Amino acid sequence: MKDQTAPHSQHQASDAERSVTASGNNLANSRKVFVKTYGCQMNVYDSQRMADSLAAEGYVTTDSADDADMVLINTCHIREKASEKLYSALGRLRNMKNKRQADGKDLIIGVAGCVAQAEGDEILRRSPTVDLVVGPQTYHRLPQALAQVREGRQVVDTEYAVEDKFEHLPAASREQVRKRGVSAFLTVQEGCDKFCTFCVVPYTRGSEVSRSVAQIVNEATKLVQAGVRELTLLGQNVNGWHGAGDDGREWGLGELLYRLAEIPGIARLRYTTSHPRDMDDTLINAHRDLDILMPYLHLPVQAGSDRILKAMNRKHKGEDYIRLIERIRAVRPDMALSGDFIVGFPGETDEDFEDTMRLVRSVRYAQAYSFKYSSRPGTPGADLPDHVEESVKDERLQRLQALLSEQQYAFQDSLVGTEMDVLLEKPGRFEGQMIGRSPWLIPVIIDNEQGEVGDIIRVRVISTGTNSLVAEKLG
Ligand code: SAH
Ligand code: SF4
Ligand code: F3S
Repeated sequence: MKDQTAPHSQHQASDAERSVTASGNNLANSRKVFVKTYGCQMNVYDSQRMADSLAAEGYVTTDSADDADMVLINTCHIREKASEKLYSALGRLRNMKNKRQADGKDLIIGVAGCVAQAEGDEILRRSPTVDLVVGPQTYHRLPQALAQVREGRQVVDTEYAVEDKFEHLPAASREQVRKRGVSAFLTVQEGCDKFCTFCVVPYTRGSEVSRSVAQIVNEATKLVQAGVRELTLLGQNVNGWHGAGDDGREWGLGELLYRLAEIPGIARLRYTTSHPRDMDDTLINAHRDLDILMPYLHLPVQAGSDRILKAMNRKHKGEDYIRLIERIRAVRPDMALSGDFIVGFPGETDEDFEDTMRLVRSVRYAQAYSFKYSSRPGTPGADLPDHVEESVKDERLQRLQALLSEQQYAFQDSLVGTEMDVLLEKPGRFEGQMIGRSPWLIPVIIDNEQGEVGDIIRVRVISTGTNSLVAEKLG
């Protein structure tokens, strides 16, 4: 997700926008696909799964559209700006395709993700050079769609599948997993039944579905066996995950985390995104009991005013959220909090906005994303009266972001001088430097580090950058 502001968010944006670089095999004559990903971590995960499914069709992934036989754009519909990215990308690809065709070659253009789901056929009407459109619930049928494209047809497949897409997706090869790094995403829950009045997700991702314990444990085990050390469980409402447990009882996310912690070799667990209404005691206690469950929680509240929270259909008050954070911090005092905020929801007054500022001051976030309200067609929010002027939204966003940045720097400063475990992720920019991940997600730069990617080392933080920590190895 973009146009977030807290410096740390740039990490997530670049993560989410990166192309999928894992390739299948290295056949000299294999076709190449360039996958461009916009949107949230679930889109990053979906892009990987689409790449896996195309690898089974003989496609290797490439980092650039220039040498690709196929370009697949995985889209986000969350705000107007996010959606528009598709059409600017398609404009560039149209020219590329025309040039190729003039040379007797071709370029297959595919659109996936949440704009694909929301707009379907409309994409072909606006951009006739597009060959195929698949939604978040139909991308396992990409190989069939491709076969039809090769027969000269344009394909739109956004009908929700009755079959379980995960059962139809091939697993990533060990080589693919290794190339993607030691930290991996794993979708455990998808869709949303919460219907916040500003949000398109319930319409683009469908209703809430939880994957089974067996499926999740199996995928997690394969990832860990291939070298993954840190798993981030994904869901639009990940803490709404539930399913039949190994012991015959109904489990929630807390029980699932205890189960995943038993997988030999797993070093770290995270989960995102949670809804305040689904944080139950077992999940909170898992933060007390499981060392490998990282002390970082992304728990969006969106606004601080009860009136606005009600209009947003969040179904809790500001005070409920503050009490919940207290309960979480009681079991895990070092818990770092992250959140999402929307300013300028229809009807938001200066006083409502001050309630948001008050809530932020009371919670003290380590990191957060904030957005100007973007009216989305088809959502109840779009039909509300009293839309807030753009200039007012700008001013509120600026003030909120200044406060959130201040809190982020205060949090980072509080880490200077402390010791922590860091998961080594990749070599740094300079010789002998490594970049790792702190328990609180912030990247850590370590000079003169001889360790291997995947090692967890003990460090002391010596200073902070805008969006990172600098540390020295201990012992
Ligand atoms: N499922 C998650 C996040 C969904 S989208 C949750 O419920 O928290 C990520 C964030 O985008 C939201 O938390 C919200 O802050 C923001 N967002 C969603 N719709 C928006 C809109 N119409 N305008 C501005 N921001 C929006
Ligand atoms: Fe959107 Fe609300 Fe569902 Fe989150 S909980 S995905 S913000 S509708
Ligand atoms: Fe965007 Fe869809 Fe994710 S709308 S934020 S890609 S669920």
